[in-house]
Order: sequence, then C-alpha cells, then structure tokens
Amino acid sequence: MARFTIIDTAKHVGEKIKVSGWADTVRAHGKILFIDLRDRSGFLQLVFIPSNKEVYEIAKEIRSEWVIEVQGQIVKRPENMVNPNMETGTVEMVVDSIIVLAKSETLPFSIEESGYEISEEVRMKYRYLDLRRQRLKNNLISRHNIIKFIRNFLDQESFIEIETPNLTKSTPEGARDYIVPSRMQPGNFYALPQSPQQYKQLLMVAGIEKYFQIARCFRDEDPRGDRQPEFTQLDMEMSFVQMQDVMDVTERLLISIVKNLFLEKKIQEVPFPKITYKEAIEKYGTDRPDTRKDKNDKNTLAFCWVVDFPFFEKKDEGGWTFTHNPFSASKPEFFKDILDKKNIGDILTTQYDIVLNGWEIGGGSIRNHTPEALEKVFEIMGYKTADIKEKFGHILTAFSFGAPPHGGIAWGLDRFITLMLNEANIREVIAFPKTGDGRDIMMQAPNLVSKKQLKELSISITKKSISKKVTNKK
Ligand code: AMO
Repeated sequence: MARFTIIDTAKHVGEKIKVSGWADTVRAHGKILFIDLRDRSGFLQLVFIPSNKEVYEIAKEIRSEWVIEVQGQIVKRPENMVNPNMETGTVEMVVDSIIVLAKSETLPFSIEESGYEISEEVRMKYRYLDLRRQRLKNNLISRHNIIKFIRNFLDQESFIEIETPNLTKSTPEGARDYIVPSRMQPGNFYALPQSPQQYKQLLMVAGIEKYFQIARCFRDEDPRGDRQPEFTQLDMEMSFVQMQDVMDVTERLLISIVKNLFLEKKIQEVPFPKITYKEAIEKYGTDRPDTRKDKNDKNTLAFCWVVDFPFFEKKDEGGWTFTHNPFSASKPEFFKDILDKKNIGDILTTQYDIVLNGWEIGGGSIRNHTPEALEKVFEIMGYKTADIKEKFGHILTAFSFGAPPHGGIAWGLDRFITLMLNEANIREVIAFPKTGDGRDIMMQAPNLVSKKQLKELSISITKKSISKKVTNKK
C-alpha cells in the first residue's frame, strides 16, 4: 500500500490508507489511546481501541518521537471532537495495523515551543532535533520557496546560474580567509572564497552577460546575530549595465518576492528611496539606516538604497584601503582622479548597498573593467607592481582581452530571509549554523586531525598553539 502524506488524509474519508511519521503526543482517554502522528506536512490523530487487542498492546508501549507506520480507516470525527486548529482536525484514523520503525530516547528538550528559551549549546548539539520543531521546519520550507522563486525569476530574465570554485585563491572582501592546505603542492594553500567576486567578473569576460549563483561564501570573522563564518549570497553580475540597471532588477525581484510569497507584508515606499552615505550618517548616524516610520509593525518593509560611498578610507597604520570592493569603478566624474591618483579621499564609488529595516541585505557596484584603472586602484592602496601581478595578474590579463563594462550585486540571502520570517538571528534560517564562537558543536568541528593527515599535507603544529577547546581526536 502506498504511503499517504498526512496533509492529504482529510480528503480520503472512508478509505483505508497507510501513513507514517513520529508519535508527537501520546495520551489515553479512558481505555481509548490517541496518538498525534506527525510527518513533515502536519498532524493526524490516530485512535486505538482495546477490541483490536494486538495493535492496542503495541500502541500502549509507544512513546513520544517513536517512528511508526500505521494502516487504518480515515473516519470523520464526531462534531464535538473537531479540532479547528489542525488541518486534519475533521478526521482521525482508526488504526488496524501498526509497525514500530524506530524507538526514541526521551529528547533532551521539548520541540513543541519556539525553542528561543533553550541554550544555544544544547540546541546546536542536537540541531537535527531542534529542526523538528514547527517553527524551524517552516523556516527551512520558506527558505526553499524564496530560493525557488529567485531561480525562476532570474531564469525568466535570461540569467544563467553558474557554479564557481570553492577551492580558490583569496579575494579581498575585507575579512580573513579560511585556508585549505594542498597535498599535491606541499606548503601551498587554497583560500575558500569570501565571495565569487572575481569569478563572476571573469564570466563577464567570457561573454555570459547575465550570471547568478546561490553561492556559499566563507569569511573568518567573529559570528554575531547577522553574521556567520559561512553564509549564502544571491550573487549576480551583468554586462553592459549601469548602476540603475542592477538596482532595477534587484528592486523588481525583491518586490516580486514580497508580492508573491509574503502577502501579509507591506513595502513602505516604492521605488525604494535612495540615500547618500553622507545623508545616512548625518541623519541616522549609520550607513544602514532603519527608515521604518512605525518600528512596531513587524510587517513593514522599509527598503532603501545607500549610494555615493567614499571609494577609499585611511588605514590606521597610514595609507589607503577600499571601503567596499577594490574591483569597483569610481563614479564617472572621478575617473580622472583615479588615473591621476589625486583627491583620493574625495573619490566616490559606484557602490550601492540595499538596506532593509536597518540591516544591510546586499551590496554591489559597477566594476572597473579596464586594466589601467584597476591597476591604479591597487597602486592607490599601496601595492607594488610585483604584488599586483602576483595577486591580481589573472584578472588584469583577462581584462586585456576585451572585457565588457559590467556590474552586479550580492544579497546576503540569510539576512534577507531572517527579516522576511521575523527572526532576529540568521541562525534561525540556516539548517546547520555555527555557534557564536564559530563551532559546529554537533559535528565537533573544527577538530584535530591525525598525524598521518598532517604529514601528507607537510604541516606540523606547534604544541603551544593547540586550542584547549578541541579535545576529541587522538
Ligand atoms: P559584501 O561583502 O557586501 O559584497 O557581501 C554582500 C552581502 O552579504 C551579506 N554578508 C553576510 N551575511 C552573513 N554573514 C556574513 N559573515 C556576511 N558578510 C556579508 C551582507 C552583504 O550585504 N562581492 C561583493 C558583492 C558585489 O559587489 O557584487 C560582496 O561580497 O548582506
């Protein structure tokens, strides 16, 4: 007999069917036993009556979170037993056969409530149980729906989804790199990408014109509510565009997501207002202003663009560094200053950040697509010619073969989804996030590796530097 999904059972009154899932709650009402069976789609009330002795005896043993398969007839509940809060609340199953598929220990915490009150350590250690709770399951389903919607939307706009490498060379995005030792090239290291920035630009040189990727990015920085060491971007790049083109497609996609998937939400202002960096700092004291008129309404979405950022900022130790992205072009009126390396502090970049309710949910720019101008940017940042060749020679060479003008944006997808789902921490929308100190407590990562592995990688570790927290590997 084929397995039915619980949510569909109410349509099969009178039929004998099979369902399976977890025993959510088990209770006795006089001699009759009730089990609320849970699968991904919902709950179904199972009824066990003593006259079916064999099944009844098995049912008596069942505890919460055991996995069972049952067959029986779907019947209408008596009028006074209807549960309007349950999608299958008008029916129940009178069980006439049962198989126990797996038993369960008592869970280390309740999965009935939201889970916010439980300590992070425990939730993350048993994350697979934490994910059984309805709120987190729904978050994962919403995340899936948002990403599916994005893929369809961009496909219709002729974007191509292309995967780029994770074992690569460092791209400066302002954070520390995670590095991976190479076995075949002893003493050499890959860097995990802080973003696919350089690859997406190289795809423009390749003539792809419109690229996107749901891309995993890696940054070795301290996690906090809106930051994880690995996170997901919706990354996009387009050729033959100007700032407004990239901003338009971003805006249309954001509006479409809200209108199609979040009917209860209201966008405060369309088109999204644009604020210059200077105005934002003067008026709100931050470059990611929360522009909501009513901050108590969780369904208001106040999107705004922040533009006209300074290209460079002074480093503490002297000299200049980029504020956002070294590959950005300056605004056209500053082209000459870049080439002349003059008035550096006044140069504005084509960077645009998209801010939602006080969170920076994305950023991008038009790029410097000529090797001359890009080289000047690196010179302004104090790189010597040999350094530039070593670090960025590949992209400068690529740009010498006819690079189209191009630009793009990346959304912090975890942040965007967090806000759409009224959560306060991006951990709540990521299946297996890291803790506040960057650990995966469940898998016990990071971890020590064997002497043999280290030897193969030509790596030796000084005893002093071994973290005391990591204890479990010989
Ligand atoms: P940027 O570094 O601004 O730009 O990153 C884009 C967006 O990614 C999100 N984000 C993060 N989310 C979670 N955890 C983190 N540690 C984290 N760091 C960043 C933010 C941010 O706005 N290559 C450029 C994009 C481009 O120019 O096209 C880039 O990565 O929401």
